[in-house]
Amino acid sequence: MACIAIFTDDPGWHGKQLRQAFANRGYTSKYVSLTECEFSLDPLKLSVLIPGFESTLPDAVFVRGVPGGSLQEVVFYLDILHTLKVMGVPVYNDGYAIEKSVDKARTSALLNYAKINTPITWVLKDRSKALAIAESELKAGYQLISKPLFGSQGEGVRRIEKMTDLFWLTSSNGVYYLQRFIDCEGAGYSDIRVFVVAGKAIAAMKRCGKSWLNNVARGASCNKIVLDSDLSEIAVRATQALAMDYAGVDVIKDAQGCYSVIEVNSIPAWKGLESVCELKVAEILVNDLFDRYLQCDRVDKERVAS
Ligand SMILES: Nc1ncnc2c1ncn2[C@@H]1O[C@H](COP(=O)(O)OP(=O)(O)O)[C@@H](O)[C@H]1O
Ligand SMILES: [Mg+2]
Repeated sequence: MACIAIFTDDPGWHGKQLRQAFANRGYTSKYVSLTECEFSLDPLKLSVLIPGFESTLPDAVFVRGVPGGSLQEVVFYLDILHTLKVMGVPVYNDGYAIEKSVDKARTSALLNYAKINTPITWVLKDRSKALAIAESELKAGYQLISKPLFGSQGEGVRRIEKMTDLFWLTSSNGVYYLQRFIDCEGAGYSDIRVFVVAGKAIAAMKRCGKSWLNNVARGASCNKIVLDSDLSEIAVRATQALAMDYAGVDVIKDAQGCYSVIEVNSIPAWKGLESVCELKVAEILVNDLFDRYLQCDRVDKERVAS
């Protein structure tokens, strides 16, 4: 029977939703950790060993999580995703998309190159230059955000509001990522998460943080908003600039009403979003994967079998 590998170390609610959605399309699925996969480069055997898929490769893989680890470990997990794709297995989102979005410097550079509105950002190694940039921004009346290149859910994100904050300005593993702070419109703090699938913005929510950090994992509340055409357009363009099948795009609307893309997530959660909209996101994702990557494959296999 057709079977999908769901790469995750913590299936939880999202894993369950995906399994159900795959079952609705007639596919079984198995949860697998990328930490358990191996290369066995022998021409007579399958070269990517995935637990539960010893005799045949999965029909597709859905990437719900890439574990952290040393640079070599993470590169190896990406090697597995890239190699599966080379072997003809649909990988949703693929290794290239994940590579670009887990690295905030790469995301910012690609957004900037595609002329998508994103805050002014500096990425550098030299501490004295980083201090000079921060000082000149503060003098000009701006605040800054410093972030680790790899990180999610607001981890390690800091705000530099005043000169004395420069005392603790530290690099993250040797790299400074500094970004101009965007004052959001309205009272309090908020940003917007837009969910894009197959080139279309399907839903959005406003996240209102307890402080300026608007991650749901940091206690931000989720509120329904209606997508307008500018918001849809900027989120779709950002997703296309990073060549993703689907994405969770973080956008801030500034005090002048202008949208700026902060981040593009290639493995976004959707539990918070579903709490404020009527959509069944797992079904939409699985249907998209099925329609764009599995449908023709299945038709071909059936044709060969008959
Ligand atoms: N340039 C910025 N201006 C204002 N707030 C920001 C900026 N960058 C990040 N933030 C806030 O910090 C949160 C986390 O930053 P983000 O870049 O999305 O990293 P993470 O991967 O940790 O979610 C954002 O959701 C937003 O609330
Ligand atoms: Mg984010």
